[in-house]
Amino acid sequence: MNGTLTVVGTGITAVSQLTREAEYCLYTAEKVFYLVTDPHTEAFVRRLNHSAECLKAHYEHGTGKPRLWAYQDMVEAILRPVRAGQRVCAAFYGHPGVFVYPSHESIVRARTEGYEAKMLPGVSAEDMMFADLGFDPALPGLQTYEATGFMLFKPMIDARIPLVLWQIGVVGLLTPEPTPRRENLQALVDTLLQTYPPDHEVVLYQASAYDNVAPVLHVAALDRLAEQDINALSTLYLPPCRTAEPDAASAALLGVRVADLSITQRSGAARIPGKAYGITHPERHDWVTGRTAHEASLPAPLTPHTA
Ligand SMILES: C[S@@+](CC[C@H](N)C(=O)[O-])C[C@H]1O[C@@H](n2cnc3c(N)ncnc32)[C@H](O)[C@@H]1O
Repeated sequence: MNGTLTVVGTGITAVSQLTREAEYCLYTAEKVFYLVTDPHTEAFVRRLNHSAECLKAHYEHGTGKPRLWAYQDMVEAILRPVRAGQRVCAAFYGHPGVFVYPSHESIVRARTEGYEAKMLPGVSAEDMMFADLGFDPALPGLQTYEATGFMLFKPMIDARIPLVLWQIGVVGLLTPEPTPRRENLQALVDTLLQTYPPDHEVVLYQASAYDNVAPVLHVAALDRLAEQDINALSTLYLPPCRTAEPDAASAALLGVRVADLSITQRSGAARIPGKAYGITHPERHDWVTGRTAHEASLPAPLTPHTA
């Protein structure tokens, strides 16, 4: 029998965001691999399928092994049982196709070698952000980049459009390291200061892995960002610092009356969303550890992985 590969996402909120199709795939696979960030999901996956094997060991933390090598080893590990004719399921936290190199690479390689391979979507950190911060990427749009790529490729950014930067905790780090490098964060801040004012309020966001625990929404002035508590799961949200105005000529071309547009369409999301809507997170009281009293009673999270 020909081997197959299905890559699935486990979502961000532990266990409850595992889709039915992902769960079925994990349950029926002959071999399962996983890379997740919370112990509940790990325990659930291992209970579902006794063949489940964690991919984390490939990082070889503390050895200076580049992340890219770890990913290549993960891809090899995933493909081995596929080549041996097994039905393989590989699970990654969040959406498996969002900022996850080994998931895409193993699918491409499996297909190139003639095996059936597909990906099932999951809930990503950005999906969580739309819900927790309360903004809609529809209009005026959304700019979203990986922090190291943002620094290296210097894309044109538009101060009228919200900007999301992923993996700021590992900006410029090609090997797994326990803490961010402050000088790299400062370099990122300096780059952003070319577009935004120093007192521009940005949000350090961390979605909660537990559905009864509030997310971290830590607001800081841009020029103080490098001193904040930032970890491998932090995502940065920058609201626009300028208002987007619809172009009158284009509106006329389209036959659109500006007065008929919604407030968001007319003015862009020039605000900290949670703040604008008065959302507070009463459970969240410890910005430093990001843990609430309730969360403190839960099992310790696993060391976060970045893939
Ligand atoms: C390797 S990527 C994995 C993303 C994941 N596949 C997803 O769909 O969200 C890791 C980055 O995702 C973001 N991320 C992961 N978990 C997060 C969380 N709980 N809250 C906010 N951002 C998170 C952070 O920017 C982190 O550095």
